[in-house]
Amino acid sequence: MIKKEVIGTHEGKEIYQYTLDNSNGLSAEILNYGGIIKSLTFCGIDMVFGMDSFDDYLNNGDYFGVIVGRNSNRIVGAKFELGDKTYTIPDNDNGNNLHSGPDGFDKKIWDCSICDDVEPSLILSYTSPDGEQGFPSEVKVKVTYTLTADNSLKIHYEGTSDSDTLLNMTNHSYFNLNGHDSGSIHNHTLWLRSSFYTPNAKTNAPYGEVLSVSNTPFDFRKAHKLTEALNSTHAQILLCSGLDHNLVLDGFGYRLAAKLVGDKSGVSMEMYTDAPGVQLYSGNFVNKEKLAYKDGVIYSSQCSLCMETQAFPNFTQNSHFPSGILKKGEKYDTTTTYKFYK
Ligand code: GLA
Repeated sequence: MIKKEVIGTHEGKEIYQYTLDNSNGLSAEILNYGGIIKSLTFCGIDMVFGMDSFDDYLNNGDYFGVIVGRNSNRIVGAKFELGDKTYTIPDNDNGNNLHSGPDGFDKKIWDCSICDDVEPSLILSYTSPDGEQGFPSEVKVKVTYTLTADNSLKIHYEGTSDSDTLLNMTNHSYFNLNGHDSGSIHNHTLWLRSSFYTPNAKTNAPYGEVLSVSNTPFDFRKAHKLTEALNSTHAQILLCSGLDHNLVLDGFGYRLAAKLVGDKSGVSMEMYTDAPGVQLYSGNFVNKEKLAYKDGVIYSSQCSLCMETQAFPNFTQNSHFPSGILKKGEKYDTTTTYKFYK
């Protein structure tokens, strides 16, 4: 079941909120602005950070629920080489490019169509012109959100380009499986199929090393509570004030990569993806101003976990990292699924 309502206007266009409901306990409110997932409710628990009104989303510095593109996470120095050219992209993060710049896919009004079926889908499309945010080539992208009958949110990203460029999209939802309003994430349990991670430099971006997770706070191969990692005095955790790291997912192809469990709700979330990496981010920068957000809740750091599937950050400067380059004639096609059960 899908409901559509107007919740504002922006740049002369109507802003729609689509409510998808799979009639089996899972529902989602999604905007045509930024493809934002405003709420994701399972068994009555809204599990993602968000804001109440559309106008609030015009100041969404934490990227709550958005589609990130063209490129996710950081490109150090805010420039990259492709072919025989150097491209300069916006510096919006102390000399780096973060999530493509201040006017990325998260700020675009997407064209939407619906498939109001047993498994309701919202299909968002956007054409990014050549040179947008400094990135080369016209890129056509499509993101399909589906609520499956078995209580998954499936996100299918597709894209083509008229010449070589970068394309590396993700979704930036902040999950708290106890409920978005329930405080600390420390007692959530995480299992992650990852044996290696890419440590960050002071830029908060990987500099090229790929290290074993053994004997580090990044080893979630046996499920345990997040608190151990978040309270760790490991230099990488201190550097980022928590988790904000790319974990290398073991194996290839679409596979079960992670499982997160909320301690109070008993809700489990499995993540399946074909991406090579995931940014584990414990919301360390969240809401420095202590503003009230959705339902009047004041969000804080380490009260949520983002699991942003991606090519590795800063791949443009590290040719041994899985690449986020999309070549002319090739198709970008990647899927990440978050499955919920109790
Ligand atoms: C990503 C980054 C973080 C932070 C958030 C957005 O997850 O890795 O450092 O910038 O996005 O606030």
